[in-house]
Amino acid sequence: MDDRFVKQETAIPGPRSLAILERRNKYVPRGISNNCHSFVKKAQGAVVEDVDGNFYIDFAGAIGTINVGHSHPKVVDAVQEQASQFIHTGFNVMMYESYIDLAEKLCELAPGNFAKKAAFFNSGAEAVENAVKIARKYTKRQGIISFTRGFHGRTLMTMTMTSKVKPYKFGFGPFAPEVYKAPYPYVYRRLDGMSEEQYSQMIIEQFEQFLLAEAAPETIAAVVMEPVQGEGGFIVPDIAFVRKVKEICTKYGILFVADEIQTGFARTGKYFAIDHFGVVPDLITISKSMGAGVPISGVIGRTDIMDAAETGEIGGTYSGSPLGCQAALAVLDIIESEKLNERAQMLGSRVIEKMKQLSMRFDCIGDIRGLGAMCAMEIVKDKQTKTPDKEGVAKIVKAAGERGLLLLSAGLYGNVVRLLMPITISEKQFEEGFQILEEAFAVVYHKSETIFLAGR
Ligand SMILES: Cc1ncc(COP(=O)(O)O)c(C=O)c1O
Repeated sequence: MDDRFVKQETAIPGPRSLAILERRNKYVPRGISNNCHSFVKKAQGAVVEDVDGNFYIDFAGAIGTINVGHSHPKVVDAVQEQASQFIHTGFNVMMYESYIDLAEKLCELAPGNFAKKAAFFNSGAEAVENAVKIARKYTKRQGIISFTRGFHGRTLMTMTMTSKVKPYKFGFGPFAPEVYKAPYPYVYRRLDGMSEEQYSQMIIEQFEQFLLAEAAPETIAAVVMEPVQGEGGFIVPDIAFVRKVKEICTKYGILFVADEIQTGFARTGKYFAIDHFGVVPDLITISKSMGAGVPISGVIGRTDIMDAAETGEIGGTYSGSPLGCQAALAVLDIIESEKLNERAQMLGSRVIEKMKQLSMRFDCIGDIRGLGAMCAMEIVKDKQTKTPDKEGVAKIVKAAGERGLLLLSAGLYGNVVRLLMPITISEKQFEEGFQILEEAFAVVYHKSETIFLAGR
């Protein structure tokens, strides 16, 4: 009996998808990117079915949105129940208790032994925008520091704070003023012969110099940092760096904002990745897996800071919608009841183990890194020169997709394979996904794939 999860009824994309794709190309602008050219019919857990009856294993998790799995029954129930009661009154018009429940829970879970408040929005970018607004209002300063290779969204402010020029910024200027980009560690790409400790020290010194050369600390409202860079290529900074930045923030009255939009909600084995660094942020931005696919985002922070904005100065029509709040409450329940933080740690170890096995077969894997279940491989043309192999990664993603594995790239050079599968993925799905990933590598790097195909 065939007990594989991936099933291929047609070529990928299949005829139905191709027909819709034609309409997509006619009516939807090309500026919106599409990783996979098939259209989804159904998604459950870590498995996605397309409109042609093909089944995929999902290692992309809607870009880190599906930590609890697709259409988790508890999320579906919560959303259905909410929709049957009321869909939207507008929190500004008539409040609902789920918003308060969610704020209360998140304030309790967020690091920091002080009073906190939480405000909700719709997208990640909106959360970051609001964190910036709140920080400016509170500090009465304008400057914002973000980091090289950071990603914070596509609105004017968050695009300005984002680092990768193409495709995120090219042709979209002028950008918002008073945003400064500081160096962020990238230990894999340190200079030859430099130890990790020396490199760490160097980056800290660079950060201190940056404050002399580029941005006077007295003028800075907030430093916005991803505790692990997501779009930047799953780069984990060293603890000393994160702590030093926080120390400098404290010294100059700068707010430390942890952008946990991709790292949050159990992805790294904790509710918030910043907890790995022993740093307590002043504000935290959240979204993505918070709503398990229902759009919701938020800012959590110290009460005095969160209360800096006057009535009506933050919020929005759909901000913290009832559906989003209920989905997020269900997500928190799932993380706790299914022990997803512990599972993410275990999953992460298994992913790293698998990546190491792959790297024994494929020389192109230059670096393997991660925190919890936020793991990635950096693909290079040559391990000595570390020349990024962007084309190789694009081919791997395509080859994987054609074989039924949804995969994502990342990184400034586009040469990182990042894995964001649901933390709830089963062992069998995990194994099958990695088997396909290995085949994709074999196809791209022209090694024999006979044994793998025979094994399936
Ligand atoms: C760290 C981080 N911040 C902000 C965003 C922007 O989120 P959204 O695409 O929901 O606006 C993202 C999205 O990938 C992200 O990873």
